[in-house]
Amino acid sequence: MKIISVVGARPNFIKIAPFIRAIEAFNLENNSKIEHVLAHTGQHYDKNMSDKFFKELSIPMPDVNLGVGSGSHAEQVGHTMIKLEKLLVKENPNWIVVVGDVNATLAGSVTAKKLNIKCCHIEAGLRSKDIRMPEEINRLVTDRLSDLLLTPDRISVENLKSEGVKDHQIRFVGNIMIDTLEANRSKAESLDINRIIYDNLIEEVNDNVEFHEEDFALMTMHRPSNVDEIEILAPIIDFLINEVCLRMNLFWPVHPRTMKQLKRFNLFEKLLNEERMFLLKPLGYHEMMRMNMLAKIMLTDSGGLQEECTVLGTPCLTLRWNTERPVTLKEHGGASVLVGNDVAKIMKEFSETLAESRIPKRPELWDGNTARRCVEEIVNFLV
Ligand code: UD1
Repeated sequence: MKIISVVGARPNFIKIAPFIRAIEAFNLENNSKIEHVLAHTGQHYDKNMSDKFFKELSIPMPDVNLGVGSGSHAEQVGHTMIKLEKLLVKENPNWIVVVGDVNATLAGSVTAKKLNIKCCHIEAGLRSKDIRMPEEINRLVTDRLSDLLLTPDRISVENLKSEGVKDHQIRFVGNIMIDTLEANRSKAESLDINRIIYDNLIEEVNDNVEFHEEDFALMTMHRPSNVDEIEILAPIIDFLINEVCLRMNLFWPVHPRTMKQLKRFNLFEKLLNEERMFLLKPLGYHEMMRMNMLAKIMLTDSGGLQEECTVLGTPCLTLRWNTERPVTLKEHGGASVLVGNDVAKIMKEFSETLAESRIPKRPELWDGNTARRCVEEIVNFLV
C-alpha cells in the first residue's frame, strides 16, 4: 500500500509526526510494507515555522517540497493543486492523507478526489459553524470529499452524521496532537524557562533580568479576524498593556502574519517599550510546551493551544467568538473560555479565571495512541 501525506503549515507538522512513526511501527509489527511519501506544500517556509519542527519532532525530511510559499488563499490552494496533481499522477498512491484544516488540507483532498484516489482526513468533523473562517471552508470541503473521516471526539462524529456522512466512513480515534504532546512531555519539562526566553527575545533585554516561573501570562494571536484590522487589534494591545502587564509578565511569541500587521499599524514600537511585555520569535514545539506548562494563564486564538491547555491544565482565554473544538470548553470539562475580541469581556474573564482554581478533564481517547488507531483504520478500510 502506498500513502502520500500532505502537510503545509505548522500545526500539520505536529500532527503528522506520530502518524509517520505509527506507520513505521505497523510495518515492523506486521512484517508489511506501507510505503509512505511525505509532501510539504511549502506554505510555511520560515526556519522558525517549519524546519525547527521537523528537526525537533524527528520528522523525516519531506520527500517532496512543492515550494508554494505565501500568497492569497486561492494562490496557495491553486499552486498546490497544480504541483500535487503531477506528483499524484507520478506516484499513483492508494491513499492520500490530509490533516487539520489548513490550505494544504483542502488542496490535498480536492486534488486526490479529482484523480479518484482515496482520501483520509485526520481531525475530521470539527465545525465552528462560522463560514467566514478560511479553516471552516477547508474543513467542510475536505470532509465532504473524504472516504475515511477520523475524528478527535464524539461531538465531531455527531457533526458528520448530521451532514449525512455514512457511519462506515466515520471512526472516532482521538486527538493525534496529544500523541505528540505525550511523546515530548519529558523533553519539554527539562527545558529552562530563562534559556527559552533569552534564546527567543525579539528585543534586547538586559541580561541581569531574572524571569521567575510563577505568574506569567502567555499569548499567541494570528487569526485574520483578530490581527488584520486596527480597530480590533489596537484595543487588544491596550488591554494587554494596561491590564495584563499591570499584574504579571506577558510573553508573546509573535506569528509572522501578526508581526507584519503590528508594524503596519505602528503598534510594534509601543509593545517594545512596555516593561513587562516580552515579544518572542515563534517558539519551537518543546519551548512552547514548557512555557504553557508554567504559565498562569494563556490568551490565544489557536485551536491547537486550546487543546494542549486542556491536557496540560492551563486556564485558557480563547480570543474567538466560536470554536470548532467545543470539547476544550469549560462547559465540557476543558480549560478554555470563549472571550472573542471584545475587551470588556476579555477583562472580565481574565480576572475571574485568575481567581478560580480547577483541573480540566482529559477528553476521551486523548491518550497518546491515536496515530496507531489511524493507521489501523486505513489498513482495515473496506469500500
Ligand atoms: C495558517 C493556517 C491556520 C493555522 C496557522 C498556524 C490556513 C488557511 N491557515 O495560517 O489555520 O492556524 O497557519 O500557524 O492554512 N509567513 C511567513 N513565514 C512563514 C509562513 C507565513 O512570513 O513561514 C507569512 C506569510 O507571508 C503570510 C502570513 O505569514 O503573509 C500568513 O501566512 P499564511 O500561510 O497565509 O497563513 P497563517 O496565518 O500562517
